[in-house]
Amino acid sequence: MKKNTLGYLAAMMSTVLSFQASAEADTSVNNKINYGTDVVYQIVTDRFVDGDTSNNPSGALYDSSCANLKKYCGGDWQGIIDKLNDGYFSEMGISALWISQPVENIYSVLNDTAGSTAYHGYWARDFKRTNPFFGSFADFDNLIQTAHSKGIKVIIDFAPNHTSPASESDTSYAENGKLYDNGVLVAAYTNDTDKVFHHNGGTDFSTIEDGIYRNLFDLADFNHQNTTLDAYLTDAIQLWLDKGIDGIRVDAVKHMPQHWQKKWMDSIYAHQSVFSFGEWFLSEGEVDPANHEFANESGMSLLDFRFAQKARQVFRNRTETMSDLHAMIADTDSAYNEVIDQVTFIDNHDMDRFHEPTANQRELEQALAFALTARGVPAIYYGSEQYMTGYGDPNNRGKMTSFDRTTTAYQLIKALAPLRKTNPALAYGDTEQRWLNDDVYVYERQFGDNVVLVAINRSETTSFSLNGLYTDMPAGTYTDVLSGLLNGESITVAADKSVSAITLSAGEVGVWQYTAPTNSVNLGHVGPMMARTGQQVTLDGRGFGGQMGQVMFGSQQATVVSWEDSQIVVNVPQVAAGQYDIKVVDSSNNASNSYDSFEVLDAPQVTVRFVIHDAGTDWGQNVYLVGNQDALGNWDTAKAIGPLYNQVMYSYPSWYFDVSVPANKAIEYKFIKSDGTNVTWENGSNHSFTSPVSGVTEVQVNWQ
Ligand code: NOJ
Ligand code: NOJ
Ligand code: CA
Repeated sequence: MKKNTLGYLAAMMSTVLSFQASAEADTSVNNKINYGTDVVYQIVTDRFVDGDTSNNPSGALYDSSCANLKKYCGGDWQGIIDKLNDGYFSEMGISALWISQPVENIYSVLNDTAGSTAYHGYWARDFKRTNPFFGSFADFDNLIQTAHSKGIKVIIDFAPNHTSPASESDTSYAENGKLYDNGVLVAAYTNDTDKVFHHNGGTDFSTIEDGIYRNLFDLADFNHQNTTLDAYLTDAIQLWLDKGIDGIRVDAVKHMPQHWQKKWMDSIYAHQSVFSFGEWFLSEGEVDPANHEFANESGMSLLDFRFAQKARQVFRNRTETMSDLHAMIADTDSAYNEVIDQVTFIDNHDMDRFHEPTANQRELEQALAFALTARGVPAIYYGSEQYMTGYGDPNNRGKMTSFDRTTTAYQLIKALAPLRKTNPALAYGDTEQRWLNDDVYVYERQFGDNVVLVAINRSETTSFSLNGLYTDMPAGTYTDVLSGLLNGESITVAADKSVSAITLSAGEVGVWQYTAPTNSVNLGHVGPMMARTGQQVTLDGRGFGGQMGQVMFGSQQATVVSWEDSQIVVNVPQVAAGQYDIKVVDSSNNASNSYDSFEVLDAPQVTVRFVIHDAGTDWGQNVYLVGNQDALGNWDTAKAIGPLYNQVMYSYPSWYFDVSVPANKAIEYKFIKSDGTNVTWENGSNHSFTSPVSGVTEVQVNWQ
């Protein structure tokens, strides 16, 4: 009914078109920082489509039959371009592609049973060149251009943790981890006199420190404290940003110094703000506060492994219930500062594929429906819509089997993806539980007056009647957004917001939605969530009004660069470094909800390794760092950096930590010993130095 009214008005006055949700600024392909309205499709480039056989490898690198999945199989950027052009993604509603790391990889074939190759893209040798088996820079440009012309963003995988497999003693193993700068050798793993790499052996994954400063498997592990390497990785990502990419998936973030990554993100946002999300793997049932902290403080989002593992347990393995699913939703809502910026999924190239050969396809369909309507940015692993199967790596990375647009899974994505564009409740809404038992989860997403109600019955045998269901949708009758694809029916909402009794049949999913024709001032998204003073930040939402109002960072007003009803661009005000809550105040003085914990940086970031020697501690005590910068807690011991590390780069009673601090500042600092309750300060005057104007450095002192 609302639609008819709008359609009528639109026909009457062309200006009313701007009120149509599909035309909102937050849905534009030009919005590189906000993916709230997008659905991502993850492609293992080599496994998708071979669009150009002339670039295929030969010999032991290649298996044209794609039977040995450790070999290259011919897929390339031209293949993706072909599928963009034939409408496979657009028709499905996909608005972002995540592709394999595009950079040049090693050409060696490993001496293992399968004769493994770098088809996956994670064995870089030159981050400033393309993988020729995927295409040339001209092909990459063409990919970006074609994608953008279809309203589709391109996210690249990027692995700044390492180059390739290497051995400390055997220079002939693979390519000796060699790193090149547009063809010029930077360093090899052996005889690495400049220490571009770590040489601490492989990690046993026992601690975060161990995982950062030792090798991940046998991969030549970068030393991000090396000045040349730091500059190299900063330049390399800028090269790809300049190529027009719209997002970055950062590999193995748990295995790199947290603050070097913050510094790197700062350099990225200063160059071109694009949505960036890291891979911090969590196994089934694992909850790691360090993972939440990274998502909240590094400047980038994360792949939401808690979401993925729980969805698999509930819909696939059936070892957990819908109540457990809701508990995950409720807990992550507070654990992550911006839960809507985390990237949700149900499987990927490092997990068994969700669909199992003998399983009921409805399990996958329900999990997809959940991911597409839940909070977070959904990423669909290629071939899920074709019910591809495969246990473990590399069987979970098989060649794309078919491009059938009539499968139920394809139709499901096609029905739900566009709703993320038109109803902002999916992009920005809260989640409320409306009805719950072991098998049934009814949840409601709401943003302002916009509402999406979802009901899922995972039982394959039992139906449930839903009595006493309430919603925030206005009175009326609502048809299933999926048009009955998963057996959903219409619902009727009464004036008191009660939903007339319905029966959820076994395996049913119903989705109902209300898109509000007008909105009060509601702030949905701020991106990036960390930026320097003066830098541009984009605010998306609804109801900002046609006339310029104000944007407040705490009590400070930001300079408005542009103001539209659903999008505002501002410059970060010249405030002190620190965390600020952001609010939009419209021209009639109505204030929006507050968007909390935006981090203002007062200068470009540099990384400093702070080292303290002779700091012996009592049982239960650790050493922390505190100082006169926001990054060092502003002398507040409750905000001190640490506990510091004391195992790999330096050993107890020495302690160290790599910290992102503002460039060119007079820094004063001290170390403290704390058992969590009692704090012991160093004696004497503060340590001091001036931070470098760029790059990385190290300072060492003895406990005083
Ligand atoms: C995680 C990636 O997703 C995985 O596939 C890869 O092998 C490792 N990181 C190392 O790059
Ligand atoms: C206490 C420390 O001991 C001192 O060094 C530092 O300057 C002050 N805190 C700052 O308030
Ligand atoms: Ca090819």
